[in-house]
Amino acid sequence: MLKALGRCTLFNKHRPPGNRRRNKMAEKSKILIIGGTGYIGKFIVEASAKYGHPTFLLVRESTLSDPSKSALIDSFKKSGVHFVTGDLYDHESLVKAIKQVDVVISTVGHLQLGDQGNIIAAIKEAGNVKKFYPSEFGNDVDRTHAVEPAKTAFATKAGIRRAIEAENIPHTYISSNCFAGYFLPTLAQPGVTAPPRDKVVILGDGNAKAVYNDEHDIGTYTIKTVDDPRTLNKIVYIKPPANIYSFNELISLWEKKIGKTLEKVYLSEDQVLKNIQESPVPLNVVLSISHSILVKGDQTNFEIKPSFGVEASALYPDVKYTTVDEYLNRFV
Ligand SMILES: NC(=O)c1ccc[n+]([C@@H]2O[C@H](COP(=O)([O-])OP(=O)(O)OC[C@H]3O[C@@H](n4cnc5c(N)ncnc54)[C@H](OP(=O)(O)O)[C@@H]3O)[C@@H](O)[C@H]2O)c1
Repeated sequence: MLKALGRCTLFNKHRPPGNRRRNKMAEKSKILIIGGTGYIGKFIVEASAKYGHPTFLLVRESTLSDPSKSALIDSFKKSGVHFVTGDLYDHESLVKAIKQVDVVISTVGHLQLGDQGNIIAAIKEAGNVKKFYPSEFGNDVDRTHAVEPAKTAFATKAGIRRAIEAENIPHTYISSNCFAGYFLPTLAQPGVTAPPRDKVVILGDGNAKAVYNDEHDIGTYTIKTVDDPRTLNKIVYIKPPANIYSFNELISLWEKKIGKTLEKVYLSEDQVLKNIQESPVPLNVVLSISHSILVKGDQTNFEIKPSFGVEASALYPDVKYTTVDEYLNRFV
């Protein structure tokens, strides 16, 4: 009863502001991140700690003693992150970690996606979780025209969605679209380390629109949704207007920046499909994801309906996100 009164605005109105602030802090959900030492996970961990959530990180013993991870681990320690040792394949450790928090965010990588049923089972046993975020952070896997091998990878994520829904676990799916760091530093040209200055290869006709988001912003938007009831059981699309570009538009933005016109080589969709079939792993995976995004336009070819989704920059207009235009300046 007292707890309920504490949450009531009328009751808060009569409390001194300091108390109100403390009360608000206390309401921030405790978050466990599984996979927080990975590529996107570290941005989620950073944002969670920055926005004042008690932040817990499930890590394997081997990760804690990995020299290549020590700088990251130290920076998490400085941010006040709590470490819980465990493993996706150790049920007891998962249950124990999950019992300490309100919200679980998984950012496990490609190889572990199909094994997130282990997290679902642990959440069911723990019985205290307010919301679960499976490892998504890409295209909406229920709205895709991907061909193999991306098709199977997306189907694995969709299968995890169905398992979450079948168990009635409250959830949010983050459809963050392209990680800027994966696409913009090379303008999606394979085998290079800088954006092209002479010639560029374009998949399809270059007119399909895609969305490129800075990883810090993906972390921020994800954490903003945690205690927001508007995102409960919804897909949150990170699709800020200034970050939506067709490939042709992206090239012309880059050309303006470097003051040079590039030679453009267009690959027909048939040629792209042939290249996917003839490429070895993991190039075929990268190419088939690019085909879905850049040829089929799978990040923008559907309307976000309130029945299933919400858009992050509309929900949080206060977030000053990095635009593609700003992001590209660092490579000029
Ligand atoms: N939108 C895009 O452009 C884009 C690009 C890439 C990926 N993604 C998506 O982003 C999500 C995360 O991928 P990522 O590339 O960031 O992952 P990642 O870098 O491979 O990181 C995986 C994380 O899982 C941890 N992990 C591995 N095995 C584990 C186990 N047995 N128990 C506990 N933790 C374990 C790893 O720990 P260690 O640090 O010890 O290895 C690491 O923290 C995926 O859903 C992926 O499809 C999207």
